[in-house]
Amino acid sequence: MQEPGSTSVPSPVVAATPAEACARVAGEIHELLAAGARAGAPTVLGLATGGTMVGVYSALVERLAGEPVDLSRVTTFNLDEYLGLADGDPRSFRSFMAQHLFGPAGFAPERCHFPDAALAAEQPGLAGEAYQALIARHGGLDLQLLGIGRNGHVAFNEPGTPEAASTRVVPLHEHTRADAAPSFGGLEHVPTHAITMGLLEIRAARRLRLLAFGEAKAAAIHAALVAPVDPACPASLLRNHADLEVLLDGAAASALGA
Ligand code: GLP
Repeated sequence: MQEPGSTSVPSPVVAATPAEACARVAGEIHELLAAGARAGAPTVLGLATGGTMVGVYSALVERLAGEPVDLSRVTTFNLDEYLGLADGDPRSFRSFMAQHLFGPAGFAPERCHFPDAALAAEQPGLAGEAYQALIARHGGLDLQLLGIGRNGHVAFNEPGTPEAASTRVVPLHEHTRADAAPSFGGLEHVPTHAITMGLLEIRAARRLRLLAFGEAKAAAIHAALVAPVDPACPASLLRNHADLEVLLDGAAASALGA
């Protein structure tokens, strides 16, 4: 457990543009996948959704098109999924991933995992344990991609989440639902719950790569990296991870040093 006020602050990479940051992370993932393929070893990626990830995935698709890699031993685990959406709903995170990465890059759908939202609606405890166990059976996550919510959430670990929280069903914060409202055609259509990987599984990933762009994320990045470590900003609980890289544009970095 980190003491509140812990000062181990990873220096962020501040890129000239979001595209530059996305290309850097995509290059690292491409290298990881290529090294796994050369060694005939499995690679396990933890993946995220959200607007921030669109550029990462398009850069990765482009890299893979230019320098193809055998993806047959790659397994992926997404951070989270909404509860209450029908199979194939275009607003589900599974659909997002199929559109932006799995389809265009040619990932085998049966190796791309999500927490089981249908099971979670019936038996939340079981769904959480099953996902945790599946990740463990694959040897844990080699690299986890992360965005950050305006309120400092990572995946759907909302403010107040303890460091030891594992995969579970959570109610969504009003800010998170408001941010999602445009893509659902109004707040009343946004799901109220989701199933999310916990900070426990996220912290267990061997590499964490967190990206944030734009001024709307500046306060969350300040709370994550500079203000005292506090569950009120869940991302701050990742600060002492042994291999965390935070990639920002100038606007997201603008409150650092303040
Ligand atoms: C959602 C996702 C998070 C993501 C966040 C930020 O809440 N569950 O994993 O980090 O959105 O999204 P964006 O990148 O669109 O700002």
